[in-house]
Amino acid sequence: MGARGCQCGFMIHGLAATGRKAGKCDTMADKSTELMHEGLVIKDPTKLRLKPNLQNFEQLRQSFEWSDADKDVEWFPGGKINAAHNAIDRHAKGARKDKVALVYDDGEGRVQKFTFQQLYEETNRFANVLKKLGIMRQDRVFVFLQRSPEAYVAFLGTIKYGAIASPMFPAFGPDAIRDRLGDSEAVALVTDKELKKRFYEVKSQLPALKHLIVVDEEDPPAGEISWKKEMAEASASFETVPMDPEEFQFMLYTSGTTGKPKGVVHAHKGIVQQHLTTKWVLDVHEEDVYWCTADLGWVTGVVYGVLGPWSNGATQVGLSGRFDPERWYRTVQNHKVSVWYTAPTAVRTLMAKGDDMPKKYDLSSLRALYSVGEPLNPEGVKWALDVFDSKPFHDTWWQTETGSILITNFPEMPIKPGSMGKPMPGIEAVIVDETGKVLPQGEEGNLAIRPGWPSMMRQIWKNPAKYNEYFRHGWYYTGDTAQIDKDGYFWYVGRADDVIKTAGERVGPFEVESALIEHPAVAEAGVIGKPDELRGNIIKAFIVLTPGYTESDQLKTDIQKFVKSKLAGHAYPREIDVVKTLPKTRSGKIMRRLLRARELGLPIGDTSTLED
Ligand code: WT7
Repeated sequence: MGARGCQCGFMIHGLAATGRKAGKCDTMADKSTELMHEGLVIKDPTKLRLKPNLQNFEQLRQSFEWSDADKDVEWFPGGKINAAHNAIDRHAKGARKDKVALVYDDGEGRVQKFTFQQLYEETNRFANVLKKLGIMRQDRVFVFLQRSPEAYVAFLGTIKYGAIASPMFPAFGPDAIRDRLGDSEAVALVTDKELKKRFYEVKSQLPALKHLIVVDEEDPPAGEISWKKEMAEASASFETVPMDPEEFQFMLYTSGTTGKPKGVVHAHKGIVQQHLTTKWVLDVHEEDVYWCTADLGWVTGVVYGVLGPWSNGATQVGLSGRFDPERWYRTVQNHKVSVWYTAPTAVRTLMAKGDDMPKKYDLSSLRALYSVGEPLNPEGVKWALDVFDSKPFHDTWWQTETGSILITNFPEMPIKPGSMGKPMPGIEAVIVDETGKVLPQGEEGNLAIRPGWPSMMRQIWKNPAKYNEYFRHGWYYTGDTAQIDKDGYFWYVGRADDVIKTAGERVGPFEVESALIEHPAVAEAGVIGKPDELRGNIIKAFIVLTPGYTESDQLKTDIQKFVKSKLAGHAYPREIDVVKTLPKTRSGKIMRRLLRARELGLPIGDTSTLED
């Protein structure tokens, strides 16, 4: 079993050199396979282009204390802090003043560069706009924009002002917007001409929303505020507000099994860990050009596409527009991207396009690759070794709730393809059963973390009961199941709940079911995730038709369109089955577990609570 060597510092042990094939996800489907435990990507430290920021991982895991990380960020007198000061102001006031912070590429070939000083002035202006509007400390300001310079400025300007910033994914439809703005009682919304139309559909249901700021409307109609006019009039000086570390920085809505999306709230203190993980995991160095492909509407986009990299003073690329393989390769080439953070679905799509496409581009700037959101197939890791000149993907695991990466394959350590890696220094991660008992190595169970890390969510907005559900027997239950191997590497098994991960995005079945039954033809609906080669999972719906309607392809398409337009472009059922009845518990709850078992031909398990 020979090692496959190269000039770039990576060797892969115990894996057949090629013969890989995109498709079957052996991480999940075949946990017993020994191959994935044998296969190891070993790095030769003498050949790495840059020395990893994190050295002596195992030793640090023993000695590290969170207070050690406090010195990497800047504090105001009296123990106050502001995440936006750390991301922008401190560099504008220091040696990185004229360093390019943002390389914004609109996807059509137009590129704009912004230095830290320029972002400092722009975010100051926006903070002054909020002041003029009379926005209060900790008010909620939502950013509903396509990726654009304004999206970054609005997000960070809100945080430096001391209000709570909340980005919204631009694919959201009126219902999704109403749920988020309504639950949080947002007072301001920053949006554009196109997206504001969806807001107007639900405006009457949002009495708390007072200010609508539109970035591209030259002459806005009554009741709207012109971004351009206000920004032009605002002063470029602003004293960033020193916040208590526990005051809120940003919030993001995410989905659970039941109920509407919940508002996950993060504190300013989180920047400590967002900074440290960017430094130790993503391993960003001064000379790097860093690119995170996640939209600013998701937690990866804000934590590793805004806060962490800029706190480390990195130059980062922001690419607008839809995912397109050629455009992505071109972006790496044109901007000389060296550190790249993306998602498994994108990796699988690139793989499916074949190995000739990347050969057309000069991708030699790439130094380190990372992935998040769902299991990264070992094939993806191996494929990258082939096409990106022996650079493998490092899988990272975390959640909206955790606020930063908690488990990962660190740059310094050997990668086990298919594994999530090991916990960050300062993170105690275990596998527990339902009673909180810690399970031995090799056993499958709930992935749980000892609470108290700096970037942990502080609240589910106005819903302490939901927040408390996460904490049991002294542990934070992640909702994922996993196991730990003999070398201490963590392996993802699945979700312990009904949450669907589709193309890396998190969708709650309840939201989709609620949107479905608003369609006149749908009497009842049950929604599950169905495994899919490319997307990880797709959303599949089982529906009972309202009497008088008959099943047809046209009707199904119509229902799909309906859900898309209400909820979101990505959160609609790609497959719909019409059924006579849905399995329910005696209390009337749809048993999605049973729907899934039937669909996938799995054992149906305990049915003692079934209706009949
Ligand atoms: C869920 C969290 C915060 C990053 C984006 C997703 C799944 C995340 C991995 C991974 C397997 C993963 C889990 C997790 N997930 N990373 N490396 N391997 N699964 O954030 O939308 O809050 O979703 O994504 O199921 O609980 P999110």
